[in-house]
Amino acid sequence: MSRTVYLNGDWHAEADAKVSVFDRGFLFADAIYEVTAVIDGKLIDYPGHAARLKRSLTALDIPMPVDDDQLLALHKEIARRNGITEGLIYLQVSRGSQDRDFVFPSDLKPTLVMFTQAKRVLDNPKWKTGLSLETVAEGRWSQRQIKTVQLLYSSLMKTEAARRGFDDVLFVEDGHITEASSANFHIITRDGTLVTRDLSNVLLHGITRGSILDLAQRAGLKVEERAFTVDEARSAAEAFLTSATSFVMPVVSLDGLPINGGAVGPHSQRLLELYISERLQTGDPIAET
Ligand code: PDD
Repeated sequence: MSRTVYLNGDWHAEADAKVSVFDRGFLFADAIYEVTAVIDGKLIDYPGHAARLKRSLTALDIPMPVDDDQLLALHKEIARRNGITEGLIYLQVSRGSQDRDFVFPSDLKPTLVMFTQAKRVLDNPKWKTGLSLETVAEGRWSQRQIKTVQLLYSSLMKTEAARRGFDDVLFVEDGHITEASSANFHIITRDGTLVTRDLSNVLLHGITRGSILDLAQRAGLKVEERAFTVDEARSAAEAFLTSATSFVMPVVSLDGLPINGGAVGPHSQRLLELYISERLQTGDPIAET
C-alpha cells in the first residue's frame, strides 16, 4: 500500500513525492533528521526529539521550517493519515536547493520531508537473543552530536559487519567506545553500575539514552557518565544499546567473546520493560482530541 508522504507543506502518494536533484541534502548530505517511535498510538519521547531537531538545525544554521505546534501536529497527522499506531516517523530537513556550490547562501528555503514506516517495534525478536557486535575504528566526522544524514561510513561498516555475521558495529576512538552505528552503547559493571559515555561532540546525544539514565537512577542503579575502554566493555556484567527504534537492546557478545555468558542480562531486561511500560503511560496520543 502506498504511503502518504509530507513534503514542504503538501501531502503526496509516496511515488509522487519529489525532491530536486539540486537539493543540498542530496548533493552534500547537508541535512539533519529525526526518528520518533509510535507505540500504542502514542509518540514516544517526542519532546526530546523535537528539542534535538532544533539543536541540530541551529548548529548548521538551517532555519526551522515549521513552528513547534505545526511540528507536533505534523507528527500526529502523518501517523493518522498512514494508519500508524505502531512504527516509526522519519523527518528530514535539508538546507534546500541551489545550483551546486560548496558555499551556501543564508536565504535558502529548507526542504522538510516526513514519512512513516509501519513496524512492529514492540515485537523485536532480538530483544530475546541480544546482539553480537564488532568493534571497528571510528571514522565519522567530528560533530557527531548533530544528527546529520552523513551516514555513509556507519552504513558501510554495519553492512560489512553483517556480512561477517555481526548485528552491528561499535566505533572505537583512542581505545574508547563512542557508540554503535545508530544507537548509544552502555555497560553494567560487575558491581552493578551503569556506565555510559559522557556527552560531547564524539557521539549523538540519544534521546532514549537520556530517558534510560533517568529511569535507571530512579530504579536505584548507580550511573556513571565517562569514557570506557573496549576491555572494560568486554569484562562487563552486561551491555546494551539504546535508540528510538529498539529502545533497550541487549548486547550478548563483543568481537565474538560472550558478555553475561552470551545471554540477555537482568538489568537490560528490566530497563526495557520499565521503559516500555512508562512510555505507554506518558506517550503523546496521535488521536485527534
Ligand atoms: N539513530 N547514535 C547514533 C549514531 C544514532 O544514529 C542514534 C539513533 C542514536 C540513538 O539516539 P535516539 O535514542 O535519540 O534514537 C545514537 C536512529 C534511530 C536512526 O538513525 O535510525
